[in-house]
This record gives sequence, structure tokens and C-alpha cells, in this order.
Amino acid sequence: MKEYIIVTGASGNFGGEVSRLLASMGKNLILISRRKNQSIVNSYPDVDIIDIQHNLNDDRTSLHLANQLNERYEISGVIYCSGGQENAGDWLSTIHSNLNMNTISYVSFVKVFIDKFIGRDRGFFVSCCSVGGYGNNYDLFNLYKFPLITITESLNHRLSVRGSSVKVYCLPICSLVPGDGVDKPIPKENVTNYARKMISHVEDNKKETLILSDECENSPIGDEILNIQNSMRVITEKEKEHFGWTDEQEKNYFNSSIL
Ligand SMILES: NC(=O)c1ccc[n+]([C@@H]2O[C@H](COP(=O)([O-])OP(=O)(O)OC[C@H]3O[C@@H](n4cnc5c(N)ncnc54)[C@H](OP(=O)(O)O)[C@@H]3O)[C@@H](O)[C@H]2O)c1
Repeated sequence: MKEYIIVTGASGNFGGEVSRLLASMGKNLILISRRKNQSIVNSYPDVDIIDIQHNLNDDRTSLHLANQLNERYEISGVIYCSGGQENAGDWLSTIHSNLNMNTISYVSFVKVFIDKFIGRDRGFFVSCCSVGGYGNNYDLFNLYKFPLITITESLNHRLSVRGSSVKVYCLPICSLVPGDGVDKPIPKENVTNYARKMISHVEDNKKETLILSDECENSPIGDEILNIQNSMRVITEKEKEHFGWTDEQEKNYFNSSIL
């Protein structure tokens, strides 16, 4: 059976580049965004590309879509590049729609595919949607983005305790050029570079978080982002110590189905 990689945000700057690179590597794709991605489909006639127009602001329909894709196709990985921040009118609707798009819809895809991936002992989820930082509406922006690194780290721990080879990554794009951030497109040469780095990170089965940024790499900001992930690991270790769990007890605790 043919395998497909799901790429969300394919009509965007980063997701578009990721999709083109994957297609040029011969990967079959399922693209998801509200706009059409006809130029990507037309450019790669030798691979199977299914272009789906869908609004990820609605978590219920996202869960439904993920279930449908799971029934119809053999999915080998999910790369979530959609995001940003949209004003949905009043503040409550804005929170709802951005939380849905940036986190809940992503988690819905994880929820639908994780058991299948665990069953096959391979598969990956990548969120490229930042871990937070300065953005328009800074406080709310962090509310949508921060959960991505926490869910990633928690799932990673749980998967490793279960001995699974399934990978979950938070590989944030991080632009430190004033006026870039979520407002302006990342420069073309950086997008290609980051997309390549992200794909080889996943293909090489690397375990650690990678920051998709030339400016952040080896900088104190990059280190602090990695520290968020590390502190989650330390908390988990300390909790285990506090409960006095053996590895076996921890494994049993995490053996129930994920999410
Ligand atoms: N640019 C930066 O410097 C930077 C820095 C840090 C983090 N990031 C994050 O990295 C991710 C990708 O960045 P980018 O520069 O590629 O952004 P982009 O060019 O604005 O692309 C965003 C993508 O998300 C899709 N999208 C937005 N709302 C959607 C919705 N409700 N339903 C379905 N799809 C939706 C858009 O597709 P449609 O409009 O067609 O639906 C588009 O394909 C974003 O999460 C962004 O916040 C970017």
C-alpha cells in the first residue's frame, strides 16, 4: 500500500518548501490548508499528491478529517507547518480559533495516528510552529505556541518508556530578524535551509529538538529553548524519584493508551 506524509500549512512559506522538497524526494503527500496548492501538485506529476482544503480552526472537523485520512490512506508521518495568529473578531473567538489551529488540531492528528504508528513501531509527528516568544499579541501568542513543546516532550518520554521508535518533534522556526516573526515571510534562502534541516533531522531519526534558525543556533536564545525541554525532563525524573517508581512500575503506568 502507498504511504503518504501529511503536511499542513502547505500553502505557506515553510510548509510549501517542505512539501516541494518531500515531493522531489519521491514522497507521496497529503497537503492541508484553506488555499489550494495546485502549483505543487502540477510540479510533481510522478508522486501522488492529494490537496485538501480544510480550516484547522475547527477542532471537531479536524478530528473528523484525521479519522477519514486514517481510514483511507497509509500515513507514515505528520508535519504540522500551519499556524500563525489570526484575529477572529472578539478576544474569546480569537483564543478559540488560534488554540484550535495551533495546538488542538495538531493533537487531534497525533491522537488519531499514534496507536497505528506504535503498532508498526515507526512514524513521526513534527510541529514546526514555534515554541513561543515575541509575536503580535505576545501573551496570547505564547498561549497557543507553548503547549507544543510540552506535549512533545511528554509524548517522547512516554514513547521511550514504552520502548517505541515513533518520534515526536517540536522543531520550531525561530526568526530573530526585527519585523519578521509571525508577521513577515522568512527569507527564501533560510526557508529552504530550515526545511532541509528539518527533513534530514527526521530522516536520521534524531531524538533531540532542533531549532530551525540560523540566528538562534548556538545562541543564548536557542539554549533557553532547549532548556524548556530539559526542565520538562528533569521534572519527570524528579517525579519518578518522588513516587519511588521502578522502571517497571513506570512502564505499567504508561502502558495505557496514549491521549
Ligand atoms: N515566519 C517566521 O519567522 C516564524 C517564526 C516563528 C514561528 N513561525 C511559525 O511557523 C509556522 C509556519 O510559518 P510560515 O512563515 O510558513 O507561515 P505562513 O507562510 O503564514 O503559513 C501559514 C500556513 O498556515 C496555514 N493556515 C493558517 N491558518 C489556517 C487555518 N485556520 N486552517 C488551515 N490552515 C491554516 C496557511 O494556509 P491557508 O491560509 O491557505 O489556510 C499557511 O499555509 C507558523 O506556525 C508560524 O507561526 C514562523
